[in-house]
Amino acid sequence: MKPSGEDQAVPAAGPWEECFQAAVQLALRAGQIIRKALTEEKRVSTKTSAADLVTETDHLVEDLIISELRERFPSHRFIAEEAAASGAKCVLTHSPTWIIDPIDGTCNFVHRFPTVAVSIGFAVRQELEFGVIYHCTEERLYTGRRGRGAFCNGQRLRVSGETDLSKALVLTEIGPKRDPATLKLFLSNMERLLHAKAHGVRVIGSSTLALCHLASGAADAYYQFGLHCWDLAAATVIIREAGGIVIDTSGGPLDLMACRVVAASTREMAMLIAQALQTINYGRDDEK
Ligand code: IPD
Repeated sequence: MKPSGEDQAVPAAGPWEECFQAAVQLALRAGQIIRKALTEEKRVSTKTSAADLVTETDHLVEDLIISELRERFPSHRFIAEEAAASGAKCVLTHSPTWIIDPIDGTCNFVHRFPTVAVSIGFAVRQELEFGVIYHCTEERLYTGRRGRGAFCNGQRLRVSGETDLSKALVLTEIGPKRDPATLKLFLSNMERLLHAKAHGVRVIGSSTLALCHLASGAADAYYQFGLHCWDLAAATVIIREAGGIVIDTSGGPLDLMACRVVAASTREMAMLIAQALQTINYGRDDEK
């Protein structure tokens, strides 16, 4: 079933209905732009770091989403990947705040590897209200609204409920730091999970879509050091509403700005993974 923005099986309208519908429509429009750009030759990264790419399409999509939302909701605040890269501060206040990743999986996008998403999260009083993630190439629209469930193209999402790490499929992402000490820690964390006999560890190049796989029960856990609040905001609502757990790698509550996460189908699984991991320090989004 293709997403139309109208086929979401959502219950009766809530206080942020207009915002949610705007996010759905903008994610679908952004997805069209990204799909078209995937067929064109020019998807060159304008950044020099091999591990942290950005393209003209990232900027185009982010500008489109923010300008339309700002016009409709002038008092709202924004946190977005490319604005942050240009020096804008990531501060989550009590005001309604949009948290946006225009293209999650930019490296995939550059290489035409078909795992690319738009992610739009929305928080009020520092609480995540809804998340919209659009898998552009597979045309899958994932949504989650606090207290109202999580859906993919109108189908309700449920996590797997797996508690046993030795039966788990675990997803992760490498993160942008590639110095020898960081890579050693990254590989050793993966090794620890494989020693614990996880069925497998996968790296698909898009943290938001990996988190959506967890929400839909196609994977049992996710962990990462070095992701950002715009990779996590929308996905966190979707996972929680699908019955999953999102926590800090210390085992404590999620800190959206801490650049690290463990998410899992059950608290038991999340704690097993948190206990196995060694910390990789990426600083905080709100201190950059
Ligand atoms: C990145 C991707 C990558 C993950 C990074 C993210 P971007 O997002 O999801 O897989 O390892 O942490 O920041 O830069 O493609 O939007």
